[in-house]
Amino acid sequence: MEFSQQLSTHPKSAEQRAEILANPGFGDHFTDHTAVIDWTQDAEGKGGWHDARVEPYGPIAMDPASAVLHYGQEIFEGLKAYRHADGSVWTFRPEANAERFNKSAVRLALPELPEADFIESLRRLVSVDKAWVPSGDGEALYLRPFMIATEAFLGVRPSREVSYRVIASPAGNYFGGELKPVSIWLSTTYARAGRGGTGEAKCGGNYAASLAAQIEAESHGCKQVLFLDPFNDNAVEELGGMNVFFVFADGTLVTPALNGTILHGVTRSSVLQLARDRGLTVQERKITIDEWRDAAADGTLTEVFACGTAAVITPIGELKTAEGSIACPAPGPDSVAMGIRAELLGIQTGTVEDTHGWLTRL
Ligand code: COI
Repeated sequence: MEFSQQLSTHPKSAEQRAEILANPGFGDHFTDHTAVIDWTQDAEGKGGWHDARVEPYGPIAMDPASAVLHYGQEIFEGLKAYRHADGSVWTFRPEANAERFNKSAVRLALPELPEADFIESLRRLVSVDKAWVPSGDGEALYLRPFMIATEAFLGVRPSREVSYRVIASPAGNYFGGELKPVSIWLSTTYARAGRGGTGEAKCGGNYAASLAAQIEAESHGCKQVLFLDPFNDNAVEELGGMNVFFVFADGTLVTPALNGTILHGVTRSSVLQLARDRGLTVQERKITIDEWRDAAADGTLTEVFACGTAAVITPIGELKTAEGSIACPAPGPDSVAMGIRAELLGIQTGTVEDTHGWLTRL
């Protein structure tokens, strides 16, 4: 698809940008442009993408009756652009994000976007906002593609007008400051997903529904929430915004199996591959909160970590529950979590060979 381009007449100054890039944080600052593609359905029900463009970043003018504002017909993605030592900019497994985006689209009754257009939208946005790609350790330009239902109509049916957009935000550590183990709160009041629900779709509603639990977590001094499946022996599902992994003393890496309620994390699948490459035994299976508690108590559980595009790999130091706390050993530099983290970041930033062909130049 051809993109037209309108450059911002009021981009941030080089000084403002440098100040932001010196301490990007996560999700607070945005680049000067956005990529947009519109979709409309005609009277015969035939839909089509059109008007692909790069335009200045700014507020979206939207009818107050737009379906997304009432029924949450929305999906999104998260991936990053990395600066390599020679200045070139690359992204990681964008085909996987495009595929997941389209699965989410089907679940939320939104139109699918061809993979080539998804990737081209990232390329076009990054080509005008390249100066925003940070180069610090663990830093990248976080890319946020999303799709919203823009038709002004209050009946409950799929929107006949949709807008696909990409915004970009320079990002450091998701949890702020230096990387350190995080405490997480076990939610027993709230569940994240149920069979047949939207758990494996990346839709805003899942994250909105995690916020009450997140408030509960914060009141207990925790940064994230762990959700269980109360209808499946309290099996561990995932955190509010990331997948979870366990390392056992016998070298087994375990993560909850994708059973329809868990997000198909791109980082999750990359971690599984890198673990297999290292000769670890990898198990995608059910793991219950009782197994976690028992294995932590008898010392067979050696590491627990969270992973996601935003979180990369972040060790979990403690699981706080209403009945007390389960401590997780702090990961040393030789830990599985830190080893895979270094390898993954190395591939993404071009210092470790990309033997799986995961990188795409933008
Ligand atoms: C990501 O890791 O990209 C996510 O989407 C998680 C969160 C920031 C919502």
